Amino acid sequence: MAEVTLDLRGQPKTEAYAELKTHALAILEGVDDDICAMATMSCLLHHAFGHLWTGFYRVVTPGKLLRVGPYQGTLGCLEITFGKGVCGTSAAKGETVVVSDVHAFPGHITCDGRSASEIVVPVYGHNRELIAVLDIDSEHKNTFDDVDRAALEDLMAWFQHRTA
Ligand code: SME
Repeated sequence: MAEVTLDLRGQPKTEAYAELKTHALAILEGVDDDICAMATMSCLLHHAFGHLWTGFYRVVTPGKLLRVGPYQGTLGCLEITFGKGVCGTSAAKGETVVVSDVHAFPGHITCDGRSASEIVVPVYGHNRELIAVLDIDSEHKNTFDDVDRAALEDLMAWFQHRTA
C-alpha cells in the first residue's frame, strides 16, 4: 500500500508542505467525510513534522462551542468556548492565529505543559461556514510562521473545495 506516513523533518518547510499536500490529496481522493479527512490530516501533519499535538476542534454550536475531534498527541481538553484560548480566539475571529510563545498569550488553555508555541487555522465547509479549527502545538517556541500559515490554510481549503 502506497499510503504511508511521511517524515518530512529536515526538509525546507515549503517543500515539506508541498509533498505533504500531494500525499494527502491522493489519499483523500474520492473521500466525502470530514471526520475521515480530519483524522487523516492529523496523522499526516503530526508525524511529518514531529509536533506535540495536532488535531481539530469541531464547531458543535456555531458561534459558541468547539468540541475536540480527531487528533494525535496527549489528551486534549474536550470543549472550548468561542473566544477562549487560542482555538476559541481563532474560531471567534475566523482567522489564523500564530502564537510564538503560548505563555505570553492571555487566556491560553494548557492541555500539555510542554506546549510552547502554537498555530490555529479556521476550517470552512462548502458554504463558507466555519466547521472546525486545526490546532497544532509545538514543544519549541517560534515554531510557526507565515509559511506554515499559508500552507495550512491551503491544505484546510480541502474541506471547502473537495469535489467528492
Ligand atoms: N492550546 C489550546 C487548547 C487546546 S490544546 O492545546 C490541545 C488553546 O489555548 O486554544
